[in-house]
Amino acid sequence: MKLLITGGAGFIGSHVVRLFVTRYPNYQIYNLDKLTYAGNLENLSDIESKDNYTFLKGDITDAAYLEEIFANYKFDSVIHLAAESHVDRSITDPLAFVQTNVIGTVNLLHTAKKHWADDLEKHLFYHISTDEVYGSLGEDGLFTEETPYDPRSPYSASKASSDHFVRAWYHTYGLPIKISNCSNNYGPNHFPEKLIPLAINNIKNERPVPVYGKGENVRDWLYVLDHARAIDVIFHEGKVGDTYNIGGINEWKNLDLIELLCDVMDEKLGRLKGHSRTLITFVKDRAGHDLRYAIDSSKLVNELGWKPSVTFEEGLSKTVDWYLQNTEWLEHVTSGNYQHYYQEQYERR
Ligand code: NAD
Ligand code: TYD
Repeated sequence: MKLLITGGAGFIGSHVVRLFVTRYPNYQIYNLDKLTYAGNLENLSDIESKDNYTFLKGDITDAAYLEEIFANYKFDSVIHLAAESHVDRSITDPLAFVQTNVIGTVNLLHTAKKHWADDLEKHLFYHISTDEVYGSLGEDGLFTEETPYDPRSPYSASKASSDHFVRAWYHTYGLPIKISNCSNNYGPNHFPEKLIPLAINNIKNERPVPVYGKGENVRDWLYVLDHARAIDVIFHEGKVGDTYNIGGINEWKNLDLIELLCDVMDEKLGRLKGHSRTLITFVKDRAGHDLRYAIDSSKLVNELGWKPSVTFEEGLSKTVDWYLQNTEWLEHVTSGNYQHYYQEQYERR
């Protein structure tokens, strides 16, 4: 098996690469990543010298480059994670999301189909997507695989578009595909622009913890290794042409989650209980802020036997420990451009 994983230097991709490299020593794993601000080879330093791992630096919007690597390496299958992934950045720079998430995905589909034309059914294109394509829920209800698409941010619209193109390649050309749509992930190696790692970093440094609006928006949080485990199961046992929802059955209002995180960190840092809650600062809401996401993952649970392996309390505790222990990683990713991003995003809010 020669397996191309795109976006493997990012948050979720690095956990997927590590899982496949260590669990399947007879697979050759190729990690294609452009190394944007979100891509970091430090995420993979523990496995970079393994014989079954190769890093390829490249851009999925570069069709000529894709042509070259498909010809050279003759990949059997693809797991596609490379994307621009942050909603706030999609509000300020939507075209970057169209380029990578839409054009990049179409480039990959086009190149894979061309190189696999002689024996299409022996190959697989597995596309990693998000629950945000389904839109925003009210107080009740869950997203199922049948929920109509209703994306509302440039990020979710670009991911929805990419999902449609993946299904179009299945129906029109017979390219074997699978898609999974997952809820919010958290865990080690998460870039501190997203809520949980940003809050951990700010609590640690006794900086204000920004909560958008009134903190009433709800997200369904899943530990990143459980997402990687779901991807492994779906890749090997999922049905070709099918979609699988992946979620944590773990809904939290943003404010409740941040208060819990403050308490966990006070205990670990030996601070007085309640101290870090004083850092919570309500800031201007995100434009078009989706109220609630929540996933029904019963298809994945019932058909493929997957379930989350850690509780939220365990996952959050492991995550905080990882950030407190990996200060060098955190310093590297928060130096340079991060300061500029932070100022633009928060200091004028
Ligand atoms: P991330 O932003 O941490 O990583 C994205 C990776 O893609 C980075 O390594 C980056 O360098 C790479 N990349 C970006 N543009 C590229 C390009 N043009 N060519 C090649 N590589 C490029 O993202 P993540 O949070 O790890 O998300 C990975 C995937 O999972 C995305 O497709 C995202 O939509 C999806 N997803 C994320 C979540 C979440 O909570 N983070 C939830 C569900 C689905
Ligand atoms: P985020 O981690 O950006 O994920 P997504 O928008 O893809 O769900 O945000 C999670 C939730 O936290 C979302 O409701 C927006 C909110 N949020 C804040 O309140 N403050 C912040 O600084 C950030 C980054 C997010």
